[in-house]
Amino acid sequence: SHVISQTLPLAGKVVTITAGPTREALDPVRYISNHSSGKMGFALAEAALSAGATVHLIAGPVQLQAPEGVTHYGVQSAEQMLEQSLALVAQTDIFIAAAAVADYRMAEVAEQKMKKAQGETDLVLRLVQNPDIVATIARHPERPFTVGFAAETQAVEAYAADKLQRKNLDMIIANDVSRTDIGFNSDQNAVTVLWRSHNGVQRHQPEQASKQALASQLINCIVEQFEANKA
Ligand code: CTP
Ligand code: CA
Repeated sequence: SHVISQTLPLAGKVVTITAGPTREALDPVRYISNHSSGKMGFALAEAALSAGATVHLIAGPVQLQAPEGVTHYGVQSAEQMLEQSLALVAQTDIFIAAAAVADYRMAEVAEQKMKKAQGETDLVLRLVQNPDIVATIARHPERPFTVGFAAETQAVEAYAADKLQRKNLDMIIANDVSRTDIGFNSDQNAVTVLWRSHNGVQRHQPEQASKQALASQLINCIVEQFEANKA
């Protein structure tokens, strides 16, 4: 008898993925967040695992079970998501930022439940910008191959190409969320992948598919450029 040994494309590699929304406290009982389901990030975790990777999934609050074999880190805020990402950066080969990070948090979180002010009908909250997790990872001295997402409602590829450069990413997956038939909370998704090469920004448009099928196409795309960057 003989043994057929097949090496999976991401065998021996560590992939870290952020997923879901973040939740920014206003006071002990209230928060700011968004409608991200986490499905894309979880599908990518499953696809990376199938490709042979060791997978770390850093996820905000979602109604999903992490795939068996994936290490799941449950976080709430953007600051916690950044802290966990930095804790894993040195061991990470590929970082994929699929999370819908809240862009702002409270300048000061109220220690007690906020009360309505007598006679006032308006409330003004002071927010401050959250740290940019994927840009922080992409500028880290031990930077892994870094992939971001861009959810846009207009000029999708132009904004995505801008984020690719500005955040120092290797690749960005542009998502047109103006299409109400697909995207954010849906099981379907249509995206364009952009990456930087010596001949400028390259693009690839995977066929529209379920998030699972799309995830494995995206992992293939990521592996290809990850390998090309090493060569
Ligand atoms: N991202 C991040 N940390 C943030 C904001 C965004 O890591 N604080 C990541 C997202 O996970 C995504 C990419 O950056 O991979 C782009 O997110 P997006 O919201 O489209 O971009 P922003 O830079 O926040 O710009 P804007 O929302 O103003 O378009
Ligand atoms: Ca944003």
